[in-house]
Amino acid sequence: MCGIIGILGKRPVAPLLVDGLKRLEYRGYDSAGIATLEKGRLVRLRAGGRLARLEEKLHNHPLYGHSGIGHTRWATHGAPTERNAHPHMTDKVAVVHNGIIENFAELRAELAAFGYRFSSDTDTEIVAHLVTNAMENGLAPAAAVRQTLARLRGAFALAFIFTGEEDLLIAARKGPPLAIGRGEGEVYIGSDAIALAPFTNRVTYMEDGDCAVLSRSHIIIYDEAGKEVARAETVSTGSSFLVSKGNHRHFMQKEMFEQPEIVSHSLAHYLDLGGKTVKKAEQVIDWRRVERLSCTACGTAYYATLVAKYWFENLARLPVENDFASEFRYREPPLPAGTLSLFVSQSGETADTLASLRYCRAQGVKTAALVNVAESTMAREADIFLPTLAGVEIGVASTKAFTAQLSVLAALAIEAGRQRGLLDKKQESALIGALAELPRYLNEALKLEKQIKAVCHDLMAAKHVLYLGRGTAWPLALEGALKLKELSYIHAEAYAAGELKHGPIALVDETMPVIVIAPHDRWFEKTVSNMQEVAARGARLILITDKKGAAACSLKTQATVIMPDQPEIAAPIAYAVPMQLIAYHTALWLGTDVDQPRNLAKSVTVE
Ligand code: G6P
Repeated sequence: MCGIIGILGKRPVAPLLVDGLKRLEYRGYDSAGIATLEKGRLVRLRAGGRLARLEEKLHNHPLYGHSGIGHTRWATHGAPTERNAHPHMTDKVAVVHNGIIENFAELRAELAAFGYRFSSDTDTEIVAHLVTNAMENGLAPAAAVRQTLARLRGAFALAFIFTGEEDLLIAARKGPPLAIGRGEGEVYIGSDAIALAPFTNRVTYMEDGDCAVLSRSHIIIYDEAGKEVARAETVSTGSSFLVSKGNHRHFMQKEMFEQPEIVSHSLAHYLDLGGKTVKKAEQVIDWRRVERLSCTACGTAYYATLVAKYWFENLARLPVENDFASEFRYREPPLPAGTLSLFVSQSGETADTLASLRYCRAQGVKTAALVNVAESTMAREADIFLPTLAGVEIGVASTKAFTAQLSVLAALAIEAGRQRGLLDKKQESALIGALAELPRYLNEALKLEKQIKAVCHDLMAAKHVLYLGRGTAWPLALEGALKLKELSYIHAEAYAAGELKHGPIALVDETMPVIVIAPHDRWFEKTVSNMQEVAARGARLILITDKKGAAACSLKTQATVIMPDQPEIAAPIAYAVPMQLIAYHTALWLGTDVDQPRNLAKSVTVE
């Protein structure tokens, strides 16, 4: 996490750095800062809290330098205060950092013994001192950085500027991503191409271990072994408009309402929706050779893989294992021949998911990455890249990326079923026909906003909320509870409805809202039995179902939200909408920050 940016410009760079940081705020928003060179001297401005606070400060104390670096922070070491905000600097160098230096305590002790004094609690500050120490021992900036990098353990993206060096910017990457942009007489570095979109679309992605020495006229990149290397320049598609909320109040709201279009777009990439078949060009996996599917992801993407488990097992009779990436990577599980490892990620940069992918590659297992950012490290490193076409997602709580992931996973499961001889032509057409209707189902679900908003007015007083579901509705319950927690800070738990009686039912009393996700499907009657159990204990039931389900359920509910009738394969995708709307509106009633909930970040590049 954390977003970093650096610019060697022809004009004062402070406003440009802030512009870039606005696009990187999704990576963290605990504090922000910039440093520039003015007449060869390093000057910096930092502020705790959101970027807007830094902007206010800059308004009163403008910085005029033509070279500079900037940072937006997600705190790891040290509280989110101004004192811990980046850049960190000495009289020789200023540095911004994304990642974690694992051996920082040892290096800090060593530097302290040399007499270096620290003005922050961060791991980053030691980098500034190590470079300074190397320069005091006579090394030039690039050599000092290289010597420092060799001493660091962990994952980091770093950018440096130096006293007296108006035409020098050094960047290094081990783990988190870094992109270099080339403009007319200007050069930029940023955590992603979106940050650079207002300045240039000519982008070079640094590879792991690379160190780049930049001037306005030259870009020189060294690989981990110190050898000069050429890295291809690409034309980035990241538009400079992408960060606008349009007519919406929040990015999250905009992104929820984009879902009918995004899902249709993502499906159309894989499926011929008119002909109701899987597109030839997208049949990139030979599913007959796959004996086991291992799905690894984090957060919301993990819940998408849990839904996919039902689809692949049911439609293609393919055994599926699901893992949180943070567990998978250290468990180092055996991966039998015939395993296909699938990684699902919006950003394509999540540290744990990426490490899991690398583990599988090292084991010689075939890897596929279902990722939203085509230029991301996972998309580039996996054997097979499966794009979701959700467009840039800014809201920290993932919405459209989730439904896009589900849509692509459904398309893949159908294709797997077809190839493995479990689905005939007619069944394939029926399933694809059902998915083709999803934009309509999603639109209808979005129209429930007014009713859901009213339901949320009662929900906001709750201390705890329980979500229940069976089958594919269970991962949706998990996703609903996650969304409510992250946006409204209300404690929420999700259970597979059948598990309730094995413990959590002890929590249920008349103060407990219980949200039940129950389309009228093969699990419906069982779910209703579990609803009976909580109703008998006085719980306030909020039922999310369809017309048939509402008619079949005789229980008294506090609210029943009626979703459009739809085939079983479409339901987990459309039912994501009420989960999102509940979290969104509860948060609005409570007045929390929907797009930037406390303590979170969108792209998690630390483990
Ligand atoms: C963070 C985000 C979540 C996201 C998760 C995984 O926690 O806040 O919305 O689901 O990371 O991110 P990825 O980019 O790998 O999907």
